[in-house]
Amino acid sequence: MNSIQPSVTLRPMTGEAGDLESALELSRAVGWAYRLDDWRVAQSLGQGILAEENGQVIASAICWPYGDAFATCGSIIVAPAMQGRGLGRSLLAHLLQSTGSRAVMLNSTAVGMRLYESFGFEATGTVHQHLGQVSAGTADAERGRWVRKANAEDLQTLLQMDRQAFGADRRRMIEEFNLIGSIAVIERAGDIQGYAICRPFGLGQVVGPVIACGAEDAKLLIEHFLRVNAGQILRIDTGGDSGLRDWLTAQGLLEVSSVTTMIRGHRPQITGPHRIFALASQSFG
Ligand SMILES: CC(C)(COP(=O)(O)OP(=O)(O)OC[C@H]1O[C@@H](n2cnc3c(N)ncnc32)[C@H](O)[C@@H]1OP(=O)(O)O)[C@@H](O)C(=O)NCCC(=O)NCCS
Repeated sequence: MNSIQPSVTLRPMTGEAGDLESALELSRAVGWAYRLDDWRVAQSLGQGILAEENGQVIASAICWPYGDAFATCGSIIVAPAMQGRGLGRSLLAHLLQSTGSRAVMLNSTAVGMRLYESFGFEATGTVHQHLGQVSAGTADAERGRWVRKANAEDLQTLLQMDRQAFGADRRRMIEEFNLIGSIAVIERAGDIQGYAICRPFGLGQVVGPVIACGAEDAKLLIEHFLRVNAGQILRIDTGGDSGLRDWLTAQGLLEVSSVTTMIRGHRPQITGPHRIFALASQSFG
């Protein structure tokens, strides 16, 4: 693949242990709490690039295409000592070649925004990371009577719900999360009206995506995972307009950081009554 400076090469990121461990070192160097398995999942669902110099991995970036019209990208990291040399720009240019005519969405840290703006990304909203240790007895079990664990027959329904709320098909991602985590659905009179996934990630567990018709149903789904994860560290990434931020804080999940959602192109239309109340992750959208 292309070179930036003669000493630097870009190549595809593989799922081999060496690449995942190098990526883990990068994320640690910039203070991100990824685990090796988080990189494995991210790599296996997307298309990654690594930059190398003298046999050392010095930067990473991944995109996740969802069909022909939409993609997200993230895990864009340049080792601190290598920043400011044009690597971030070069990695992003490569990613955007592979996403082609798709609209591309990402969640930018403050330091990434100028770079993304220079490629035509525009800010469209904010995402707030809430994190905390779940205390026992946080959620009232009676409120959870509509919520149950998903079973295999629910999968098609929730895939369709997700496709309408996200605007593109995330089947592979949801199937992978089903293997590593657990899915809850909200059902009334035989009708599935929302779903949420909880899986190991970073410092503990993450709840997301949470897809529901309204904030009250989203809370019921999240409460289910608060009940089953007492004592654990739980993370939720929620949009600035979700209506959940004060409630999450009251549950002991404090806001620890925020990022800016940026889009290049037009996101596919969202249809149906369901909305996204928590992201799968800042990378996956
Ligand atoms: C964001 C990051 C990937 C940029 O990589 P980089 O190799 O340093 O960036 P480049 O040298 O290619 O510079 C690209 C553009 O970014 C902007 N930029 C670079 N350093 C910056 C800084 N410290 N603050 C704000 N903007 C900055 C500039 O606009 C620059 O373009 P220009 O030099 O033509 O003006 C890198 O700083 C990084 O890894 N940060 C920590 C992890 C992170 O926050 N990643 C972004 C996740 S969305």
